[in-house]
Amino acid sequence: MTKPVYVLNGPNLNLLGKRQPEIYGSETLEDVRNLCEAAAAETGLQVDFRQSNAEHELIDWIQEAREAASGIVINPAAYSHTSVAILDALNACDFPVIEVHISNIHKRESFRHHSFVSARAEAVIAGCGTQGYIFAVQKMAALLSGK
Ligand code: DQA
Repeated sequence: MTKPVYVLNGPNLNLLGKRQPEIYGSETLEDVRNLCEAAAAETGLQVDFRQSNAEHELIDWIQEAREAASGIVINPAAYSHTSVAILDALNACDFPVIEVHISNIHKRESFRHHSFVSARAEAVIAGCGTQGYIFAVQKMAALLSGK
């Protein structure tokens, strides 16, 4: 059996749907999980969908993924802009990494314009809303099948 793609979500994304809906929309993280699972089923992938508010937990999951996953789709949320440690963990992985942001970080405050994770990601999707997760799963399937 092929290994799942880990879909990792960083801090405050547990509040999706309640938190600043004018920026992040009204869908919940559970809705996003369903979108990812449906996109994965269509492309023959399996996803392991997780969220944490803790940087160390995200790093532990990335390290776990080195053996257990075939790729990572990650919305590191605010840690995108601060965490060299998450970048280092992703740099220790040999498989594709795709970064997702629900909002267009480049249209927002200047401190959101730089993401450490982008230096490692095969693809970066921002500003497509929760649909960005579907694009990320589809792109991951294409990368893993060599297309
Ligand atoms: C976010 C953008 C980040 O700047 C922010 O800190 C988030 C969510 C997004 O999905 O648009 O928490 O990653």
